[in-house]
Amino acid sequence: MKVVLSYSGGLDTTVCIPLLREKYGFDEVVTVTVDIGQGEVKKAEERGKKYADVHYTIDAKEDYVQLLFKLIKANGDYEGYVLGTSIARPLIAEKIVEIAEKENADAIAHGCTGKGNDQLRFENVFYQYGFRVIAPMRELSLTREWEIDYAKQHGIDVPVSKEKPYSIDENLWSRSIEGGRLEDPSFEPPEDIYEWTAGPENAPDKPEKVEIQFEQGIPVALNGERLSGLELIQKLNETGGKHGIGRTDMMEDRVLGLKARENYEHPAATILITAHRDLEKLVLSRRELKFKKFVEEEWAELVYYGLTNDPLFDSLNAFIDETQRRVTGWVRLKLFKGSVIPVARYSEHALYSEELVSFDTKAIDQKYAEGFSLFHGLQGRIYRMKKRGQK
Ligand code: ARG
Repeated sequence: MKVVLSYSGGLDTTVCIPLLREKYGFDEVVTVTVDIGQGEVKKAEERGKKYADVHYTIDAKEDYVQLLFKLIKANGDYEGYVLGTSIARPLIAEKIVEIAEKENADAIAHGCTGKGNDQLRFENVFYQYGFRVIAPMRELSLTREWEIDYAKQHGIDVPVSKEKPYSIDENLWSRSIEGGRLEDPSFEPPEDIYEWTAGPENAPDKPEKVEIQFEQGIPVALNGERLSGLELIQKLNETGGKHGIGRTDMMEDRVLGLKARENYEHPAATILITAHRDLEKLVLSRRELKFKKFVEEEWAELVYYGLTNDPLFDSLNAFIDETQRRVTGWVRLKLFKGSVIPVARYSEHALYSEELVSFDTKAIDQKYAEGFSLFHGLQGRIYRMKKRGQK
């Protein structure tokens, strides 16, 4: 019997390897690490090769960047969270399925617990392909303390300590830190949970400006230099991180209804979404902006819930793509001690007219506004007058 395990190299999934042999009776454990720009790929590969029977590393960075382009166009955000973990899960699951089919596996295993969202996002894909799913962390309800001891007994070196017992999920778009004392929302996170960002108070005293060029809603150049999506995001993570940009400490509503305290780092995401929103305000109509907000909220919820296989997701993307045809231009932003401030923007598709709005020109005769103003708010005025007893 053969099982394919979605493998990050962390504590949970590494403990799964001996568990799948001892508690589930598999004779062959195949680990798969999907590379979506997390820093730990090499380490995961080494550990997979050491502890599993067969290991695969799949490079999905380019597929992931294509998904992130969709996310940028949708200003992807769930309750203030940039959706880094969630948007990656179905893609990882698809890659795992490819290997499971190639390996003729009897089951697919993952390291998610029964309390989080990731079990739902993964399994929605695994079931779609008819696989039997095994989730040791959920089925055996293990504690991290037990896992650490079990790992040690099996000669597995443990990547976490009892003092720093965080569960980290990292990819190109965000780094998420959970667990340990962070589970107490009244506990302030220590600086050492952060790896991508400087504390704003330690960021440089001089601001730095970046200029991002978009074509049809997709970022294509940074400070005049054309870059691949991957390079552009990596560079902005570096620059933004240096300036303390993109930390989130929030209460989040999980799909199951549990509230959770979550900590994230995501410099490039914050910069790119701030820039993209700013450019949209220049080129989209008032009606488009208003309606797109609802679409974005629905879009983000489908991603967060792991329901991107719903046909609605394709329809929403089709609407969003239609709006993005004119989202071409650039935005200049100032990065300074944790803040991202748009300071200039340009698009040939701008719906803005300096000629019409300026204090300094006479292109519109202002007297026409008088008639408009007489009707504006008419119903409210009638209501208030009646309330005051006037006719
Ligand atoms: N709360 C986030 C989500 O559901 C991130 C979870 C990341 N997992 C982790 N082990 N840090 O998308």
